[in-house]
Amino acid sequence: MIETERLIISPINEMDYEDICDYGCDEETGEYMIHWPKTREEIREFIKDRISSMSLENPIWYEFVMRLKETSKVIGNISLIIKGSEAEIGWISNKKYWNNGYMSEAVNAVIKNAFDNLSICKIVATCTDKNIGSYRVMEKCNMKKLSLEKNKKAIRKQIEVTYDKLTYVIDKSLI
Ligand SMILES: CC(C)(COP(=O)(O)OP(=O)(O)OC[C@H]1O[C@@H](n2cnc3c(N)ncnc32)[C@H](O)[C@@H]1OP(=O)(O)O)[C@@H](O)C(=O)NCCC(=O)NCCS
Repeated sequence: MIETERLIISPINEMDYEDICDYGCDEETGEYMIHWPKTREEIREFIKDRISSMSLENPIWYEFVMRLKETSKVIGNISLIIKGSEAEIGWISNKKYWNNGYMSEAVNAVIKNAFDNLSICKIVATCTDKNIGSYRVMEKCNMKKLSLEKNKKAIRKQIEVTYDKLTYVIDKSLI
């Protein structure tokens, strides 16, 4: 468990299901994401899969939820996918709480925890260049822009989409 000024950050749990459905099923929230929004059933499976991946001896996929200290409500989740000494981080949160600094507060803490406790040396994050809120979180967490790749292709809900992909990075040795 990680504690920040306003948040408790902890591994995802089945009890978080309804709070995650509140934002995870929302079309606007997932607009710039490949794997969101999800149906309620997909969210149930997602939580089950992430709990089981974190129960492995050396997990390669951590999924954290951020919970408001004040109300105990889960308002977002953060993934950390480990590839050797590097990791990829990603996030989504409830739009009722956007632009209050919550995701930056949580991501800063997850990055620090990964550097301090998970033998991670480098963390990357990606998003479409249209996703201003997301790359602002990267910048507010001291991540540096590495690249902008034009016309990347991905499959979103069985449909091919084209987007300009921003990649940001933070290196443990440089902080
Ligand atoms: C991206 C997301 C997690 C940010 O969460 P958040 O709690 O609002 O993040 P923060 O408040 O810490 O920071 C957001 C920053 O973006 C800025 N921002 C957001 N939308 C903006 C816009 N359209 N134009 C300019 N700045 C914008 C905010 O002002 C804030 O910056 P500031 O503190 O310097 O003012 C949230 O918007 C979200 O869940 N989006 C949908 C899911 C998603 O796209 N995830 C990322 C996929 S790669």
